[in-house]
Amino acid sequence: MNLFLPDESATLEFAGRVFQALPSGCLVFLRGNLGAGKTTFVRGCLRAAGFSGAVKSPTFTLVEEYTLPDRSLFHFDLYRLNDPEELEWMGIRDYFRSDTICFVEWPERGAGLLPEADLEIRLTLEKTARRAEVSAHTEKGRELLAQIAMG
Ligand SMILES: Nc1ncnc2c1ncn2[C@@H]1O[C@H](COP(=O)(O)OP(=O)(O)O)[C@@H](O)[C@H]1O
Ligand SMILES: [Mg+2]
Repeated sequence: MNLFLPDESATLEFAGRVFQALPSGCLVFLRGNLGAGKTTFVRGCLRAAGFSGAVKSPTFTLVEEYTLPDRSLFHFDLYRLNDPEELEWMGIRDYFRSDTICFVEWPERGAGLLPEADLEIRLTLEKTARRAEVSAHTEKGRELLAQIAMG
C-alpha cells in the first residue's frame, strides 16, 4: 500500500486509521529519515486513542510508555542505540506482549534483536509532503493491511 500524505494532518489522519484497525499484540516498524514523520505518526495513533498530552520521540530514554484504557502503547526510538545488546539489557522481549502495541523508530539499529514486525511503514519526503509505503510481514499484518486498504 502506497499513500501520498500532503500535509501533517494527513499523516495524523492516516495514523488514526491504522490505529483503529490495529489489534493488541502488534509490532509496527517506522522507517524513514529524521523529519520523515515517524513520531508524527505515533502522535496520530495516540490522538486516535484519546490521548491528548505531549508525544515526543523518546530518543534518550529509548522507550516511552503510554497507558491507554485497554492496553499499553510503547513508543521506541532506537536512533541513539549504540549496541543492539542494549535491547537485551532492557528486557526488550517483555515489551512485546499480547496486551501491548509497540512502535519502533529506527528498527534497523536493533537488527537481530527485534522480532519481525507485523506492519512496516516507510515514510519518505516528497517535496514538502510525505509518502507512506506500508507492508505486512506476518499473517496478522496481512489481515491488518487488507483492512486498512479497504477503508
Ligand atoms: N505529510 C506531511 N507533510 C508535510 N509535513 C509533515 C507531514 N507529516 C509530518 N510532517 C512534519 O514533518 C515533521 C516530522 O517530524 P517527526 O514526526 O518528528 O519526524 P521523525 O520522527 O521521522 O524524525 C514535523 O514537523 C511534522 O509536522
Ligand atoms: Mg522521531
